[in-house]
Amino acid sequence: MTSTLITNIGTLVTNDPSCPGLLGLVEDAAVVLDGSVVTWTGRAADAPAADQRVDAGGRALLPGFVDSHAHLVFAGDRTAEFNARMSGQSYSAGGIRTTVAATRAATDAELDANVARFVGEALRQGTTTVECKSGYGLTVADEARALRIAAAHTAETTYLGAHVVAPEFADDPAGYVDLVTGEMLDACAPHARWVDVFCEQGAFDGDQARAVLTAGIERGLTPRVHANQLSHGPGVQLAVELGAASADHCTHLTDADVAALAGSATVATLLPGAEFSTRAPYPDARRLLDAGATVALSTDCNPGSSFTSSMAFCIAVAVREMGMTPDEAVHAATAGGARALRRTDVGHISPGARADLLLLDAPSPVHLAYRPGVPLTAAVWRAGVREV
Ligand code: NIG
Ligand code: FE
Repeated sequence: MTSTLITNIGTLVTNDPSCPGLLGLVEDAAVVLDGSVVTWTGRAADAPAADQRVDAGGRALLPGFVDSHAHLVFAGDRTAEFNARMSGQSYSAGGIRTTVAATRAATDAELDANVARFVGEALRQGTTTVECKSGYGLTVADEARALRIAAAHTAETTYLGAHVVAPEFADDPAGYVDLVTGEMLDACAPHARWVDVFCEQGAFDGDQARAVLTAGIERGLTPRVHANQLSHGPGVQLAVELGAASADHCTHLTDADVAALAGSATVATLLPGAEFSTRAPYPDARRLLDAGATVALSTDCNPGSSFTSSMAFCIAVAVREMGMTPDEAVHAATAGGARALRRTDVGHISPGARADLLLLDAPSPVHLAYRPGVPLTAAVWRAGVREV
């Protein structure tokens, strides 16, 4: 194994609670990687020798972004729908069916190439862990193939057969829930770590969502929930009650929802790309943070409601529009995402962590919000391998 010393780091974001501030900052820092893991962090002046040396030139080094919510197995795009929305039409769950038709018509190779494209696009922007959902197949075979394809690119695969009711079951939603909790689950569970449901008007109500999540739990999957995106609803309370790792979107919350999240281990994952691209009001991150909830930021990358793979964009929007400080937003995009995926090996830079690192072309992580829209990736390591 080859060890690498990255030195002359102007600001190191460790997310280590024993270091100062929310981001656990170390100035004039160095990091040593050995194989796929971090073996040492500290002041550059104290750094041990290593086989090779990288001069960070005074730039900021942070943990690779952890994007805990994305829908990357799809074909086609929905430019026309976006265009119509930006001309005043509103977003509804029904647009998902457009992508379902295109995805079913695509070959395995086309879908695989699409996932590879978006994982690569995200990696070049500093994302070293990405979750990936099914949900654009909605038949037993198409959902299972989506998860098989996703699993070739990430360990964080999520069964979302309950994205919307499949068109074939338009008159029999109960029949579709039976399929999702029965034969489809049997085919998908071997390829998935998580189970998710879109709990929303036009998708699945509280009882249906409970049935889907409970069936997934019985098959060994851990729940996460698309909750309270377009309207108030039972999603957040259900997520907390069932011990979900995350309640995602959290755009429309009552005080009771905020209190439930704050009093639980369920992370509130906010997806500002969705509000941006549907011209909807942003979730109130400040309210969640002040109540004591754990917040993650993710892209929700999908062709309908949020076609961005940029965590930096989400950080900038969260700071400008959602009441987060730059430090809180960077923390939410790294440590928060790791928490939402129940991962202890990513989202921080300390001895034993996976060597997932983003070297910014900037002296401070604050530049992610201060320089919106500017490509700031200087280098990326994933599991110790220099990828960018
Ligand atoms: O997270 N909310 C449900 N699912 C996606 C939207 C998918 C789509 O519009 O294609 C979301 O926003
Ligand atoms: Fe989503």
